[in-house]
Amino acid sequence: MTSSGPAKVPQHIAIIMDGNGRWAKQRGLPRLEGHRRGVESVRTVTNAARELGIRYITLYAFSAENWNRPAEEVSGLMGLLDFFLKRELNTFIKDRVRLLTIGRTSALPAGVQRELNRVIEATKDFTDRTLVLALNYGSRTEVADAAQAYAAAVQDGREKLEDSSWDRFSRYLYTAEIPEPDLLIRTSGELRMSNFLLLQCAYAEMVFTPVLWPDFGKADLAAAIEDYNKRERRYGLTTEQIKSGS
Ligand code: FPP
Repeated sequence: MTSSGPAKVPQHIAIIMDGNGRWAKQRGLPRLEGHRRGVESVRTVTNAARELGIRYITLYAFSAENWNRPAEEVSGLMGLLDFFLKRELNTFIKDRVRLLTIGRTSALPAGVQRELNRVIEATKDFTDRTLVLALNYGSRTEVADAAQAYAAAVQDGREKLEDSSWDRFSRYLYTAEIPEPDLLIRTSGELRMSNFLLLQCAYAEMVFTPVLWPDFGKADLAAAIEDYNKRERRYGLTTEQIKSGS
């Protein structure tokens, strides 16, 4: 993909799946129809990611703020999540995909929690590929939850205040066992992070595409990776330092 060498495949891609509502509106359909089509994009994109050798995909499926949407849309989204988990379980097992979640999932409907636990349990031993669903997720609540857990660990002596560091603190985030995203994609032309993986994306490359999520397919994913491949990730260093490998 680059002229200077073989294409790099990001290890972890995080996606803000946006534009379902507008996709539906453009067609005179109910918003839920956009979300339904969005679920099909989830399947297309996770399959494409597996074929491309991407090991981690994190999808922003339901934000902590999404509860404020009309009740009908919220229950529709929960129904789709339930449907998705039931439908994909066998595929996850066949493709050896582990499912993880980030977010306050204990606030989700009991039936959805049951399905989540069932899929998480059935796929927990797979190590090659991981799909992470961000559900009732928000970076700020994640930090508040991590700070509480960290403070409790200091209080009972598992952590020492004088040893505080990002490395130690980050073990209390929901993402403790997940590498940081290399690439963040947001669809639908919006140029915001919307409280998604704010700390974990500190060094992520970002690709914003006008394509609405229900229209986002394999070619769009490949284009985002191609864009990623043109970037130089410097982590605060100079180009010369990166080239000399120091
Ligand atoms: C944003 O579109 C999308 C969401 C709020 C939810 C994303 C959910 C799905 C794709 C379906 C469920 C997911 C899984 C994994 C089963 P929007 O409604 O904000 O679009 P708009 O900005 O055009 O209104």
